[in-house]
Amino acid sequence: MNKEFIKVLQEGKVGIIQFNRPKALHALNRQMVDEIVGQLKSFDQDDRIRVILLMGDERAFAAGADIDEMMDDTPLTLEFLDPFAIWDEISNVKKPTIAAVNGFALGGGFELALHCDLIIGAENAQFGFPEVKLGVMPGAGGTQFLTKAMGRRKALEWIWLGEPMSAQEALHYGVINRIVAPELVEEEAMRLANQLAEQAPISLRLIKEAVYAAEDQPVREGKKLERKNFYLSFASHDQKEGMQAFKEKRLPSFKGV
Ligand code: HXC
Repeated sequence: MNKEFIKVLQEGKVGIIQFNRPKALHALNRQMVDEIVGQLKSFDQDDRIRVILLMGDERAFAAGADIDEMMDDTPLTLEFLDPFAIWDEISNVKKPTIAAVNGFALGGGFELALHCDLIIGAENAQFGFPEVKLGVMPGAGGTQFLTKAMGRRKALEWIWLGEPMSAQEALHYGVINRIVAPELVEEEAMRLANQLAEQAPISLRLIKEAVYAAEDQPVREGKKLERKNFYLSFASHDQKEGMQAFKEKRLPSFKGV
């Protein structure tokens, strides 16, 4: 089950993708991105999995795209290879995704975290886009995600300067969800994942679709989608179970159907 650059684990209903290129601080070469996205899709289709967790190790989540692999690229090699197209598939994952970030989340590593729904950061985590110092720029959604999260002015400042953002700053600007001590990042991410894994999967899925629509669509359209999704939730066993459990004053047991 394990690939060359990731380890794949399962704990209860949580599927875990652990990056496994420690000598290069999990710098994302193209094979590694293929492996990560392939596994995300596989977990997304796996009925046993309800939440997906991405993590590196204590030194780094990921220190960016692999500079060695990229440095000889030309506009044409990039155009034909289209290496960032596969990143769009991350946004098609329907289950909740959580990034547990220790150490560096830079460049493509930060973009990978930003593709996740929730981000837990260690107190000493560093988030940033150093691309400007390499004479390039973010290419896997960084300018879009960061601007949506913190607004144009602050996003420009961070991406132009290329300095790392502390976990405290990232939290302050709404870029990450929570900060914990470095040794507790995994535990906190698992706690959150397990909590989500007990919610009705259909609700999580329909909520995710509606919340993301708020970023791309006018409110009028987003509200239409929300309404349809609300109606759709009433097709599920879990809606009957959730409301029945409330009436019977017990905890619901959601089946994901
Ligand atoms: C290739 C990398 C790498 C990267 C680190 N390494 N980041 N290799 N690509 N992005 C390698 C180093 O070359 C080194 O290999 C080993 O990992 C350990 O790194 P050190 O630099 O020795 O560690 P340290 O001194 O602790 O510094 C850590 C660091 C630094 C601050 C994170 O490694 C760094 O600045 N890395 C580059 C960060 C960056 O610019 N990221 C953006 C990339 S562009 P050796 O063999 O020497 O031991 C990008 C574009 C995104 O991401 C486009 C969309 C995907």
